[in-house]
Amino acid sequence: MTKRTPIIAGNWKMHNTLAESAALIEGLTKNFENKQNAEVIVAPSYTSLAKVAELCKGTAIEVATQDVHWEDKGAFTSAVSPVQAKDAGATHTIIGHSERRSVFGDTDEILNKKVAAALRHGLTVIFCVGETLEEREANKTLSVIEGQLEGGLKGFTEEQLKGLIIAYEPVWAIGTGKTATPQQAQEVHAAIRKYLAGKYSDAFAQATRILYGGSVKDSNVDEIMAQEDVDGALVGGQSLIAEKFRRIINFN
Ligand code: PGA
Repeated sequence: MTKRTPIIAGNWKMHNTLAESAALIEGLTKNFENKQNAEVIVAPSYTSLAKVAELCKGTAIEVATQDVHWEDKGAFTSAVSPVQAKDAGATHTIIGHSERRSVFGDTDEILNKKVAAALRHGLTVIFCVGETLEEREANKTLSVIEGQLEGGLKGFTEEQLKGLIIAYEPVWAIGTGKTATPQQAQEVHAAIRKYLAGKYSDAFAQATRILYGGSVKDSNVDEIMAQEDVDGALVGGQSLIAEKFRRIINFN
């Protein structure tokens, strides 16, 4: 069985001024403890990106953007390109977060182009998938997720996708305080791994880290991380509180 390095990633969403971002990084890095040797990633908003990347230099924390545009440059008011993201210090980018899908209308086709752009510039992709409550209740969870993977990753070879990170985030669990049970998470994670093995190879499936996201807290991270196919967490709300996020990084 492949040993996968766990990843704890914080998605700051539209939070934190420059000063708040700096304070949060200071709170995270002071006497930094990382019992599980997890890869730690934070995704600040664009305005804080360069500053956070600067502050994280020489620490064990890597920096991601929350999204990226599919073009390198051009007339795309308000968008940020993978070139700019890298220039500001990002090594990773989240793509396909459910808020991008539902609030900003990112379709599978758009996400596919964004994945291509990120890969073209060597940004590691954290690709998010997840079902709504209605879809879960209609027993469509696995087919929805398979469709999202199929659409978003269409056309890439296993070689191109090497290093890909997948985040399973049930929409009904994001920001609601409702977490999937460890069993529900494990079931979907195992299904994603099986899909990857079928579509690519067993080696690829075994090497790919699959994170769980949706109301991960200091109080539930241990049982979620104990699941065999859960390789990490994508944390929203609690990643904004240094003390909580530090506890999540040091899950048991
Ligand atoms: P949450 O957000 O932890 O606040 O539920 C997770 C996410 O949206 O990535």
